[in-house]
Amino acid sequence: MTQASATHDDDVIVVSHPLVQHKLTLMRERQTSTGEFRNLARELSLLIGYEAMRDLPLEPVEIDTPMERMQAWRLAGKKLCLISILRAGNGILDGLLDLVPSARIGHVGLYRDPETLEPVEYYLKLPDDVGNRICLVVDPMLATGHSAVAAIDRLKQAGCARMVFVCLLASPEGIACLRKAHPDVRIVTCAIDRGLDEHGYIRPGLGDAGDRLFGTK
Ligand code: URA
Repeated sequence: MTQASATHDDDVIVVSHPLVQHKLTLMRERQTSTGEFRNLARELSLLIGYEAMRDLPLEPVEIDTPMERMQAWRLAGKKLCLISILRAGNGILDGLLDLVPSARIGHVGLYRDPETLEPVEYYLKLPDDVGNRICLVVDPMLATGHSAVAAIDRLKQAGCARMVFVCLLASPEGIACLRKAHPDVRIVTCAIDRGLDEHGYIRPGLGDAGDRLFGTK
């Protein structure tokens, strides 16, 4: 693994850029307000979206600059779909949309059974051509990994063929769970924390991302 603005092992990318780490620290702090938390989530998702999209294919295109004709590069082929795992995933859609305003958006609704911590699906809406798109599946927290695995299981059934999982914070348990179930899905995150507590929360973490994004409790 190399230490640069992103730490790669190809399957798991930790975006260690100083701006990302600084903003993540602000998000973690207990006293950060809902409005600040929301803005930070948007900014961070834009910054890690940049890494998540680093392998998008390019194609050459002939253009005219004011000076001369040249061969330049533009995004090629497959289009993007952002898929939010409800509800917290919605908090990191806007930053990604700042980067790719024309991306389609899908939603998967799962809730965690408080007893078993297992995910239960209650909503699924995807673009018709999702199978022809590169999908960024987004959820701020990769905690147990159960929701991510269930969402990706469902998305594969629905025809999604190429996916990247984008989160702000991950646990080692969540990464292991997702890698085991879906080794073809790359994970992009800002940090990997110590681990999970007995309630399935990431420690030290940042608390409940959905509650902090939407001001609920
Ligand atoms: N979901 C959250 O919002 N926070 C955690 O720590 C774990 C799951």
